[in-house]
Amino acid sequence: MEGASAAAVLAAAGCWDGAGENNKSKKEGDGMEFNELIEVRRSVRRYAKSAMSKDEMEKIVADALNAPSWKNSETTRYYAAIGDEAKARMWKEALPTFNAANSADAAALVAVTFVPGESGFMGSDPADDLGDMWGAYDCGLASSYFILAAKNRGWDTLIMGIRDTAKVKAILGIPAGETLMSIIAVGKAAVKPIKPPRKPVADVLKTA
Ligand SMILES: Cc1cc2nc3c(=O)[nH]c(=O)nc-3n(C[C@H](O)[C@H](O)[C@H](O)COP(=O)(O)O)c2cc1C
Repeated sequence: MEGASAAAVLAAAGCWDGAGENNKSKKEGDGMEFNELIEVRRSVRRYAKSAMSKDEMEKIVADALNAPSWKNSETTRYYAAIGDEAKARMWKEALPTFNAANSADAAALVAVTFVPGESGFMGSDPADDLGDMWGAYDCGLASSYFILAAKNRGWDTLIMGIRDTAKVKAILGIPAGETLMSIIAVGKAAVKPIKPPRKPVADVLKTA
């Protein structure tokens, strides 16, 4: 896969009809090669002021909907604060000081949730010992797609796990039954992020 664009790999596998030629561009915000995308996507904790339209947010979520999920159950939901009032309330009431500061001036604060009792379930019964952990698994996959799609479209992100769940739900009108996973800040980086070191592959991979 190294050096090959995602489109080229799909084309070689016979799964790509050549539509969406813009995916071959390397320019940030206009589609990047996959290897470059996963390198330049980093958590950003300082943003320049920017705004995001509903249309732009819809494009990122449409990309993220390509993520796999249990039986294609698609239980992940996104609640995007893109207006000044909603964002101000999120920063003031729902995020701890350090995360509010880390995400200050972001264009959007997106609460990512999942509907429990569907992913990982056969009817109303959990399919195995993991139960709703499968919903969380799907939500993590969807979130990965979301942050990569955002970067691909020229937006930086920060996943924030630490928040006040009840306040987030009240501000964004999230149904009580949904499970809140994270808040993802989306904006324009004011500083170039440094990649935190990663473990050697041998520490995390065993082959047999
Ligand atoms: C589930 C999850 C929760 C996180 N919560 C926070 C958080 O509350 N605040 C924060 O600044 N970063 C948070 N992060 C970002 C991680 O610290 C970051 O992804 C990690 O250090 C690797 O850096 P990178 O994203 O730049 O590769 C979170 C990331 C994940 C996946």
